Amino acid sequence: MGKVIVIEGLDGSGKATQTERLYQTLKSKGVDVLRVSFPDYDSPSSALVKMYLNGEFGSAPDDVNGYAAASFYAVDRYASYKKDWGRAYADGAVILCDRYATSNAVYQMTKVDEAEREEYLRWLEDLEYNRLGIPRPDLVIYLDVPTEISQSLMSRRYDGDESKKDLHERNLSYLAKCSQSARYSAQKLGWSVISCVKDGKMRDIDDISREIAAMCGFAAE
Ligand SMILES: Nc1ncnc2c1ncn2[C@@H]1O[C@H](COP(=O)(O)OP(=O)(O)OP(=O)(O)O)[C@@H](O)[C@H]1O
Ligand SMILES: [Mg+2]
Repeated sequence: MGKVIVIEGLDGSGKATQTERLYQTLKSKGVDVLRVSFPDYDSPSSALVKMYLNGEFGSAPDDVNGYAAASFYAVDRYASYKKDWGRAYADGAVILCDRYATSNAVYQMTKVDEAEREEYLRWLEDLEYNRLGIPRPDLVIYLDVPTEISQSLMSRRYDGDESKKDLHERNLSYLAKCSQSARYSAQKLGWSVISCVKDGKMRDIDDISREIAAMCGFAAE
């Protein structure tokens, strides 16, 4: 069996940027590595996720409960595992994931009462790793970025066009709750947290990628 390494974080926290860096580092060390990203927007398996993020079930995240929404994302991952990388994983490859089942803990756990959180995490892990049977991650790296800063990075990416943001991205109070869920999950589930901001500013991309590579047991290029 291979390994699953996950880069997790809120919207605009630098996941795609750091996944690409780590991918290049692992490649350059001769590691058999495959990169995947979730949701798998290019696949029809993400149809329900797209409907949800487009607001077709209601304009607020809470219009779809945390169990239903998590299921939409989970089946998309199952399809990707079966079609795109399950074989390579079984053959020993490292699967590098920009988001994974861990995103449900960040975004969907916010929808249950605090007293229900532990049970919700158990349900999530049971659904994805036991019932659907996708691999449990070997390492989850959480990019911790305060929402004010990740919002401004995202706005830059969308050229200031707020209408391009999806139902999660445009909802600041929801994202603030997600940030709390993420910290709770990181602690409960043993994620490795990287503080991406120093003195109120985003750290250099290279600086962060060196820390990530070291966590994976490699020196960055
Ligand atoms: N350390 C950094 N310093 C400054 N800018 C950064 C840093 N990391 C990423 N960025 C920029 O911030 C924006 C968001 O980064 P990226 O797309 O990697 O985030 P993401 O977590 O994948 O976002 P999303 O969740 O929306 O897909 C991009 O324009 C990227 O170039
Ligand atoms: Mg991204």
